[in-house]
Amino acid sequence: MAKADRTGHALMPVPTHTRITGGFLDISGGVELTITGPARARLTGPAHRSVRALRGSGLSVSMPKVPLKITCAGEAAGPPALGDDESYVLVVDAEQGIGLSADQPAGIIRGLSTVAQLVQPTPEGMVMPCARIEDRPRFGWRGLLIDASRHFITVPVILRNLDAMASVKLNVLHWHLSDDQGFRIESHRFPRLQEVGGEGVYYTREEVHTVVRHAADRGIRVVPEFDLPGHASSWLAAYPEFGCRGGGYTVANSWGQHDACLDPLHDEVFEFLDQFFGDVLPLFPDEFVHIGGDEVNGVEWLADPRVVALMEREGLDLVGIQTKFCRRLQEILSKYGKRIVGWEEIADLGAGATVQCWRGPEALARVLGSGCQVLQSQGFYLDSLDRAGQFYRREFAEGLGSDETGRILGGEACMWTEYADSVTIDSRIWPRAAAIAERLWSAREVDDEEDMYRRLPHVSQRLEALGLTHRTELSGRIRCLVGTGSGE
Ligand code: ACM
Repeated sequence: MAKADRTGHALMPVPTHTRITGGFLDISGGVELTITGPARARLTGPAHRSVRALRGSGLSVSMPKVPLKITCAGEAAGPPALGDDESYVLVVDAEQGIGLSADQPAGIIRGLSTVAQLVQPTPEGMVMPCARIEDRPRFGWRGLLIDASRHFITVPVILRNLDAMASVKLNVLHWHLSDDQGFRIESHRFPRLQEVGGEGVYYTREEVHTVVRHAADRGIRVVPEFDLPGHASSWLAAYPEFGCRGGGYTVANSWGQHDACLDPLHDEVFEFLDQFFGDVLPLFPDEFVHIGGDEVNGVEWLADPRVVALMEREGLDLVGIQTKFCRRLQEILSKYGKRIVGWEEIADLGAGATVQCWRGPEALARVLGSGCQVLQSQGFYLDSLDRAGQFYRREFAEGLGSDETGRILGGEACMWTEYADSVTIDSRIWPRAAAIAERLWSAREVDDEEDMYRRLPHVSQRLEALGLTHRTELSGRIRCLVGTGSGE
C-alpha cells in the first residue's frame, strides 16, 4: 500500500501535493474576499457561497477578518466542458491569509472545495492548517449517475446531491431520464412521452434549466441519458407505432430486462428521434448525450420477419442490428453538435463513441480494443451496497499501454433506483461515493484504505452541513414505521 499523507487533515480526494507548513490560520473572524482576473463575474457566486459556508462554521465579531485572495488568469469560458483545466494552487498562511490561484475558473471552483475541507473547529475557534497545496485531477470525467426513472428523484434532492458532488470534486451528473419504468422529461413536441410514458411524473423544462444552472455554477456538467433502443417500455407506451410489435406496450412496473425495443428499420422511428432530440437537446449545453444501448435482449427483433430477413441478407447478428441503429442515432446527434455516449453494448461504433463499461472487468480491455473512449463504472455501482473500501480498491487502469490509458476519460459511480427513492437516495450514495471520487481524482498511488476510512466520517459531517440527509433520514423512516407512539 502506498503511504498515505498522514498529516492529520481530512481532505478527500487527497490532493496531488500537500505540504503542511506548520501553524494555523484563525478564521474565526471570517474572510475578506477579493477576486482578480477576467473571470471575476463567473467566480463571484461560487466564492461568495464558500465565504458564507465559512461564516456558517462559527464567527467571532471580535476577531479580524483574514484575506481570501482568488486569482484566476483565464477567461470565463462557456459552460463546464470535458477537458477544462481543474488544477489550482492553494496557500494558507498564518500572516497572509488564504491565496487561491488557477488558470481557469474550474480550478478555482475545485480549490474552493479544498478550502472548505481544510476548516477545522477547535476550542479556540475556527482554524485552517497552514499549507501549500498543488492539485490536479487524474481523470477529467468523474461522474455520478442518478436514475430518475425507476423512482422519480425530486429537484431539491438533485440540487443537494450536486452540492455534495462539488464538495468531493465530482464533475458530471449523468441523469438517467428514461427507462422502462418511466419517461421523466417534458417534451413539447411529443407530450405523450411525459404524460403517458412518465405517468405525469417528470421534470419540466424550467426544472431542467434549474438543475443545469445549479450544476454549471459548481463546475458540474449534466449529461442526459435517453435509453435506446431497449429499456423502451415508456417510450413505446406513449408512441406504440415505433416498436416492432406495433402496440400493447405499457409502462413497466417490475424490474429487470423487458422486451420493448424500438423498431430498427422504419425511417419514421429516426424522424421521431430526430425531432425529439431537436426538441430537448437545447436544454443541455454539454457536448455529450448518453443513448443507453444496454441490455437489448432481441426478443422483439427476432420475432419480426423484417428484422430477421435483414440479418440474413446482411449477415448481421443482434449486435450488428443494434450497431446500425446506434450509428443512425450518432448521425442525428452529430447534426445537433453532440457526441454519443452509451453503455458497453455500443462498443462496435468504434472510435468517435464514448463507451461506459459496466458488466465485467474484462470489458474494459475489449472496449478499449475497439478504439472507443472509455468510462469505467464496473465496480462502482452504489446500489450493490458494497462498502466504501471495496469501491476504493477498484483500480482499473492496470496493464494498459499509454494509448489505451489515454482513452480512459474517467468513470462514474452509479445510483440505480430500483430500491431507492427521493427519501432514501442520499443514504445510498453518501458518503461512499466520496471513496469513488477519490479513486477518480487522486493519483493511483493513493490507496491507503485505513486512511480513507479515517477521513470518511469528516466527509460525512461536511455533507450533513450541506443539507444531505444520509444520516438523519433513518430516524424519520423509523418514526414513519412505528408512529410517534404519543397518541398525538
Ligand atoms: C446497466 O446497468 N444496465 C447499464
